[in-house]
Amino acid sequence: MDKKYKRTLVTCALPYANGPVHIGHLAGVYVPADIYVRYLRMRGEDVLYVCGSDEHGVPITIKARQQGCTPQDIVDKYHNIIDNSFRDLGINFDIYGRTSSKVHEKNASEFFKKLYDDGKFITRESEQYYDPEAKTFLADRYIVGTCPKCGAEGAYGDQCEKCGSTLSPEELINPKSKLSGAEPVKKKTTHWYLPLEGYEQWLREWILEGHKEWRPNVYGQVKSWLDGGLQPRAVTRDLDWGVPVPVEGAEGKVLYVWFDAPIGYISNTQELLPNDWEKWWKSEDTKLVHFIGKDNIVFHCIVFPSMLKAYGGYVLPENVPANEFLNLEGDKISTSRGWAVWAHEYVRDFPGQQDALRYVLTANAPETKDNDFSWKDFQTRNNSELVAIFGNFVNRAVVLTHKYFGGKVPAAGTLEDIDKEVLGQIPELKASLEHNIEGYHFREALKDAMSIARLGNKYMSDTEPWKVAKTDMDRVSTILNISLQICADLAIAFEPFTPFAAARLREMLGSPLDWNVLGRPQVLPAGHQIGEAALLFNKIEDAAIDAQLARLDRIRAEREAAAAAEAAKQVAPQKEECTFEDFEKMDIRTATVLEAERVPKTDKLLKLTIDTGLDKRVIVSGIAEYYSPEDMLGKQICILANLKPRTIKGIESHGMILMAKQGDGKMRFITPQEALANGSQIG
Ligand code: MF3
Ligand code: ZN
Repeated sequence: MDKKYKRTLVTCALPYANGPVHIGHLAGVYVPADIYVRYLRMRGEDVLYVCGSDEHGVPITIKARQQGCTPQDIVDKYHNIIDNSFRDLGINFDIYGRTSSKVHEKNASEFFKKLYDDGKFITRESEQYYDPEAKTFLADRYIVGTCPKCGAEGAYGDQCEKCGSTLSPEELINPKSKLSGAEPVKKKTTHWYLPLEGYEQWLREWILEGHKEWRPNVYGQVKSWLDGGLQPRAVTRDLDWGVPVPVEGAEGKVLYVWFDAPIGYISNTQELLPNDWEKWWKSEDTKLVHFIGKDNIVFHCIVFPSMLKAYGGYVLPENVPANEFLNLEGDKISTSRGWAVWAHEYVRDFPGQQDALRYVLTANAPETKDNDFSWKDFQTRNNSELVAIFGNFVNRAVVLTHKYFGGKVPAAGTLEDIDKEVLGQIPELKASLEHNIEGYHFREALKDAMSIARLGNKYMSDTEPWKVAKTDMDRVSTILNISLQICADLAIAFEPFTPFAAARLREMLGSPLDWNVLGRPQVLPAGHQIGEAALLFNKIEDAAIDAQLARLDRIRAEREAAAAAEAAKQVAPQKEECTFEDFEKMDIRTATVLEAERVPKTDKLLKLTIDTGLDKRVIVSGIAEYYSPEDMLGKQICILANLKPRTIKGIESHGMILMAKQGDGKMRFITPQEALANGSQIG
């Protein structure tokens, strides 16, 4: 660790308490942070690991409204689910707080008040949408209308979920308030803004000059924001859920959720360490690291640091290792569409297999680009890496030690080349692992740890102690001694990645093992008694994977059915006006189908012979997708009789069958409500 620093403060983005956390969150933020923290702890560093629920913001109020409960009910529910799922996955924060806490309300309020008193804000009057019936200002999300880009109904004032376009409420066609259905009107309101442009030069120096080592995705986003020029950012909102703005004349206003949430990191530290929190936030020798997803970069690299700078006295992040996104089976993860693997459901469906998920999410971590999670890959990685390499190696070493040496670490004799070569590689892998974790390259770090397991497994297969046992027990003694030392190395190296297995392994080896002994010779001394072999990892069977895939198939099918139902509701716009005379020109009558057959070599056409009351004639109609010839036989229908005859596929078609066509294209023929004589005129 950097000599400059005495302690490390690690924060993880506060998850919104309006839904459970899913594998995208875990891979993006919480698993990498946890690896980092566990590593530092193993090394004996002073670390504080802070997170909590983000409990304000408009989406929570919308969810409460939908479910007919209060926002507090929503956040209580999800706060508990999220808190438990982190614990279950071995992600043990020092504090998992919440932004609806008293400590936070007081702290966020004071933070605002100090900036206000110090003249760090400007005020601006703007016109905001207002619901004249509900008598309240409307957040963009509370305004719905037709998307100007794709025509979808129900687009939000900030985004169309159908086509993904970013919108502003002004652009919506036919905007309506979600609260009352009333048409929103513009109304003047005043808000406080942090004039970010004043921090631009400082941000350039601090990040663009001073932190060229930040990940390219983070650095690049910061640079493009700065190059685009910063604008004042509103830090208050007209809303009734949040931290009230603590100044006069601000009734009905709260702090903007993105203003209060990052202050939550500080509040949660205060909650945990009421007397000692300042040393974590205000001493130069604290290293602050924010783990976040890429959608949070601007807030953690530009807005929050500017807030801290404006306040004065706070440390700034030393790094912000943001990840890209994880997709699920090739599709974007979406909480609203239910396309996700939820942390709490994983723990329920794969009890005792937390490490498998942590392992796969790290091996596939979206560190430099978006990545995909697939259940098949998950199964393969678990079965052919964790089980077949790591688990298999440890199991062979421990079982053979019991078989030949009564569970006591046997002594190492003279080392052969193969022994020296294997042992010689471990310090290098250790150095690489350290370098990678400290540089936030967790995928690479995991590869280093896995290389130790591969090394051990290959050593065992190459030396075949179970065969050597027939001839040379001294040699077996050396081989197993070396194998057990490698097991000890694994128990250390895997603690950050697969902590449950690492703990079981340390227990099996009967040794606590700290980081420093990784790669040292004879860490487990000859004669040391080890415990019984226990499985480190369990094979994941096809049935478990199939069940998960079936669940996702159901979600996909439901989504498609819902989209089709939506499409069916789309109503075609009214045609241009016509006169009574125009209508009078059309001769519409009842008729009966006498014969029906498919038109050869076409998918859509039926040739119908019909009795029109006037004559028998042939009409070719494009309804074969919806009706078979048998369906049509003997049916009474309505036709446009005086349509000019046309030749279709070589058949003269005289007239047209009247069909009603639904938004999704589905068609039905029109039939009189009661049978009438053929040729009855319609008008
Ligand atoms: N709740 C936000 C999200 O999920 C993250 C908030 S991070 C904080 O995107 F810094 F504001 F707390
Ligand atoms: Zn759209």
